[in-house]
Parts: sequence; C-alpha cells; structure tokens
Amino acid sequence: MNRNKIGVSQFQASNNDVIQTSNNKLRTLCQQYLNGKFLRNLCIATVVILLMAATIICTPIFVKKLKGIEVATLATITSTMTTVMKGELTTPPSTSISSSTTTTRKTTQSITKTATKEDVIRRRWTQNGTTVAGENGQGNRLNQLNNPSRIRIDADDDQIMYILDRNNHRVVRWKQGEQEGEVVAGGNGIGSQLHQLNLPTDLIVEKSSDSLLICDYKNERVMRWFIGNKTNVRQQIILSNFDCSSLAMDVDGNMYVSDRRKREVKQWRKGDTNGTVIANGHGLGDQSNGRFPLIPIFVDGNHSVYVVDNYNHRILKWTKETKQAIVVAGGHGRGDSLTQLAAPGELYVDHHSSIYLADEWNYRIVRWLNGAKQGSVIAGGNRQGRAPNQLNSPSSVAFDRQGNLYVADSGNHRIQRFDVINN
Ligand SMILES: *[C@@H]1O[C@H](CO)[C@@H](O)[C@H](O)[C@H]1NC(C)=O
Ligand SMILES: *[C@@H]1O[C@H](CO)[C@@H](O)[C@H](O)[C@H]1NC(C)=O
Ligand SMILES: *[C@@H]1O[C@H](CO)[C@@H](O)[C@H](O)[C@H]1NC(C)=O
Ligand SMILES: *[C@@H]1O[C@H](CO)[C@@H](O)[C@H](O)[C@H]1NC(C)=O
Repeated sequence: MNRNKIGVSQFQASNNDVIQTSNNKLRTLCQQYLNGKFLRNLCIATVVILLMAATIICTPIFVKKLKGIEVATLATITSTMTTVMKGELTTPPSTSISSSTTTTRKTTQSITKTATKEDVIRRRWTQNGTTVAGENGQGNRLNQLNNPSRIRIDADDDQIMYILDRNNHRVVRWKQGEQEGEVVAGGNGIGSQLHQLNLPTDLIVEKSSDSLLICDYKNERVMRWFIGNKTNVRQQIILSNFDCSSLAMDVDGNMYVSDRRKREVKQWRKGDTNGTVIANGHGLGDQSNGRFPLIPIFVDGNHSVYVVDNYNHRILKWTKETKQAIVVAGGHGRGDSLTQLAAPGELYVDHHSSIYLADEWNYRIVRWLNGAKQGSVIAGGNRQGRAPNQLNSPSSVAFDRQGNLYVADSGNHRIQRFDVINN
C-alpha cells in the first residue's frame, strides 16, 4: 500500500510535469513566432484552452488510477515498514501530557452512564447509515477523505466531528450537514517538520485545552497541537523516537501509548519522565514473519486496558489488579462467525464493559457484552461494499451523546452515522 501510495504522488507529480513541460514548449513557440500583443494574447488563450482540455482528459484517468488502488488496512500499511528500530525515548513528556481530562471519549462514556445494562442490551441502530463526511471519491480536497482511520465526536457539540484523515496526513474538523471540512492539523504535505504529519494513526481531542493529541506514526512521535487559535496553531512533541501506534487517556489524565514493534503498552502518569510498561507478552502480535500490525488500545473508567491483538484476531484486557491478560473478544482465529473476528481495528468500551469494535475484514461493527462468548453485529456485515448498509474496512467507532454510532468507513473514504433506534 505504501508503495502504491508513493506511486500515486509520483503519478500526480509527473502528470503536472507533463502539463508544465508542454506549457513551456508552447510558450516558447509562441514567443519565437509571434511578436504582436494581440497575437501573444491569442496565443496565451490557446495555451489555456489546451491546458483545460488536457485536464479534462487526464482527470478521469487519474481518478480511475486511484480507484484501482487496493484499500489500505491496518495490517498492510504496517507490513511494508522497514525502518530500523529506534532506541528509548529521549524527550521527557514533561507536564504537557495533560492538565485536564476532558476528552471527547471520556465525556461520551459519562453520558452513557445513565443507561442501565438492560438499556444497553436493548439498544439498536438503523441498518442503513447516513454519510456525514466524505464519499466524494478518494482525494485531498476539502470535501474528500483518504482512508479516514479515526472518528471523534466533540464532547460539547454532537454536530462537530474530528476526523483523522490518515493518508492525507491531516486532521479535519467537519460539521455535520456541511459539504466540506476544515483542516485543523497537518495537511502540509508528508514530512517531519513541526507543522507536518506522516501517516498519523490515532487521535485524542482534549477539549479543556483546545488541543489534539496525535500519534504521528511514521515520524515515531506523539504530538500535541493547540488548535484553539486558528491564526496561531502551535505544536509540541510530547514523545519522540517512540514507535507510537495508538493513544489513550484514563479518567485521571494519565496517557497510554502502545509501542508497535515492542508489542507493549506504556503508561505515563502526569509528570513522569519514563513510562511504565503495563501490558505486554501473552502472545500479543506476531513477530516471526516481520509483521507488526498497529495495536489500538482503550482504557476504561477502572483503568483496565483493552488491547487489540489484530494479528491474532482477538481483544485482550489487562485489569489494574491482576496485571494478567484475558481474552474478552475473538480468539478463535480469523473468521466471520459471531465468535470470531478478522483483523479487528479500533474499539470503544462503555461503562458496562461492553465492547464496540470495528471488525475490519468482516466489514462490520460488532458488540461484545461483558463476559459474552460471542458478539452481535450492530452495523454492516453485509459483505464489502458502499451501499448504506455496507462498510469497507471500517477502522474506528465513536458515539455521540444521543448514542448514535459513527464509523470511519476507511475503504469508502467516508464517515457513516447509524442512528440509535431505542436509547
Ligand atoms: C436501505 O437502503 C437500501 C439501498 O439504498 C434501500 O433499498 C432500503 O429501502 C433502505 N432501507 C430502509 C429501511 O430505509
Ligand atoms: C491568536 O493569535 C494571534 C497571533 O499570535 C494573536 O494576535 C491573537 O490575539 C490570538 N487570539 C486570541 C483570541 O488569543
Ligand atoms: C529513565 O530511564 C533512563 C534510561 O533507562 C534512566 O537512566 C533514568 O534513570 C530513568 N529515570 C527515572 C526517573 O526513572
Ligand atoms: C468498574 O468495574 C465495576 C465492577 O466490575 C463495574 O461495575 C463498573 O461498571 C466499572 N466501571 C467502569 C467505568 O468501567
């Protein structure tokens, strides 16, 4: 996928070069043979018309090329990684980890607290989703997305979505009902400068400080972007030289980061300089064939850490007391029965410990109630596709305060909303 992705930018660049070259040639010709002002203007007009024609002819070809590209999945973007393992982190996180804990996820969690366990079990969502962002083809215009991999709903406003637009190396804020979003972080090309991102993989929205915590995966760093003042966006590197894969924050404002190659989760308490390993081993991931899938994590209100073991198609849970992992979903190999998962992506856990999970390669969202031996399908599950009741490599789930479900439908380059029926 990475190779394909690079191929796209090369294609784009060479396409521009061709237009640029023919533009120059025509201009030279014109200058050689024509001297009068009127004739020069006529010549420029001809060049413009030729350029427009070239664009009209080239655009469908380009779009076709994009469509032909295989959909990225967590596993495939990571499998092509060949970078050398870096040492221990060098930058202390300092006090900037968190001064407050008002994250979108925490607020959502506290909202659903009013629901009883029976309410949660009864809860259903419409089978047809509504597209609330994207689905204007894969691309980098403001009305487009390119493999959106995380969706967050504003803690104070259900209409505002924050979308981690992974392959555009940016975070987009998008108000439901609007035709396009607004770039709030990144979007300045691939790179490692402070104002750039390179394949970001996770996002926390911290409302109290108007900032975003971003796992800037290819740059092997965790960043904070202060986005409160549009004319003065500031960035901070919180962790560097860290093979950051996923981020979480608990109710006390402690930060958790999963390390992709070390196959472990570290916790940083406020003020810590070195993190503490709190989850590792238990066959998490597989290193034998050089594949290192991302490790999405979630921390619930009891400081239990849920870890997505993508390679083994299961979810592991470490509780604070036992420090031992238990399998809480999947664990029966890859498959599409209700006891199985297929390359699971991100998860969300409510206060009854029900797990909501993007079951990527089964093109569905599943829910596993606490202690359940199998899950149930709450969205998608109708094969790969882009109809309203279908998904294509869904990678992230979120809820608003009403209980409506949002899915980052990564392979369809769109965000889907599935309305709650009985809340
Ligand atoms: C769901 O969408 C399909 C395809 O557009 C449509 O045929 C069907 O009527 C819709 N179902 C409902 C309940 O709206
Ligand atoms: C935003 O930043 C600009 C430029 O630094 C500054 O002039 C302005 O006062 C700031 N606005 C607010 C509301 O802080
Ligand atoms: C942090 O880790 C480094 C390197 O392992 C070590 O030298 C240092 O003493 C540690 N600091 C604390 C406060 O534990
Ligand atoms: C914490 O654990 C208790 C006991 O298992 C459970 O009743 C409670 O709902 C949990 N709270 C959260 C926030 O997960």
